[in-house]
Amino acid sequence: SKKLLVDVDSGVDDAQAIMLALGAPDVTVLGVTCVHGNTTVENVCRNTLRVLKACNQLEIPVFKGADKPILGNMLDPGHFHGQDGLGDAPDPNAPGLDLLQKENAVSAMIRIVNENPGEVSLVATAPLTNLALAVRMEPSLPSKLRGLYIMGGNTESRGNTSVCGEFNFTADPEAAYIVLNEYQCPTYLACWEFTCHNKLSWVIFSLTFLPHLWKMLQPFVFFSLQEFCDTWLAQDSHKARFMSQIFQHSIEAAKTERFQKECVAGAGFISCDSYAMAAALDDSFIIESDCYPVSVELTGTHTRGMMVVDTVGFLKKTHKAFIMKKVDLERFKQMMMAALK
Ligand code: BDR
Ligand code: CA
Repeated sequence: SKKLLVDVDSGVDDAQAIMLALGAPDVTVLGVTCVHGNTTVENVCRNTLRVLKACNQLEIPVFKGADKPILGNMLDPGHFHGQDGLGDAPDPNAPGLDLLQKENAVSAMIRIVNENPGEVSLVATAPLTNLALAVRMEPSLPSKLRGLYIMGGNTESRGNTSVCGEFNFTADPEAAYIVLNEYQCPTYLACWEFTCHNKLSWVIFSLTFLPHLWKMLQPFVFFSLQEFCDTWLAQDSHKARFMSQIFQHSIEAAKTERFQKECVAGAGFISCDSYAMAAALDDSFIIESDCYPVSVELTGTHTRGMMVVDTVGFLKKTHKAFIMKKVDLERFKQMMMAALK
């Protein structure tokens, strides 16, 4: 079976990515490491435990990692995922932080990879601080990975956090730099614009835009108007009800003009982190990718945190990353459906 280690800043789409892994056949999640990002690392730990509880998989070990980037302070994440990072839909029976492992996330990452050399796929859906610290403590770590799957960076200099910066890279540019330059293992990137070009459809979205018209039309609609996202959430399961609760906030946030500008033309639902996870889960998910050396801008006034793609060879780097371009979206939908079954 496939062995995964997942580094998250849960985060609604991180939650979706974790659930994708837990819903996949023949996959063992060896641990989930937490880092600052969409909210404080304490909230991330709490949210991650909630996700595991919703999936009845609280036996998977969860580790707390870095609470801020390598340099400076935690970036203000904005409120797309809610103040608590998980849609501000609290659960009074949420598992307590006493369920966290005592071991630090970075040590756990190194230990788990050392125990399974050549076998672990590391899926990183958050600022890369834990991964950067891990390679400093154990330089041989990347060579022992089966693969590294990252949601982060951008290819068309369209930012969702600064003019040119994607959130995970902008939240810790130094860490992203270290990882892209020192993890010389097969590396797959689900960048921001790629996720925007691969949105999933939802009627919830367009209809909530026109609530009055929808109310008038509803009695006359005899056919199903459900698009992917609606069908996905309407599944009769505990996991689907949990997702509907934590997802409402994102549905509202996605209606804002700011988000419309950020997410590149067209309405739809983007589960950014799930694309990186899907690639780790299914080797045939990526149909086409660009293969180039990549790095991160650290000093630009407007461009700090922006990913740079070296199509010519200026960086004199031999290691190239696979930048996802075309993926099997039908397969993706199947995996997403299975995640909430
Ligand atoms: C990334 O930033 C976070 O808000 C999401 O969880 C995702 O990992 C998208 O830029
Ligand atoms: Ca994330």
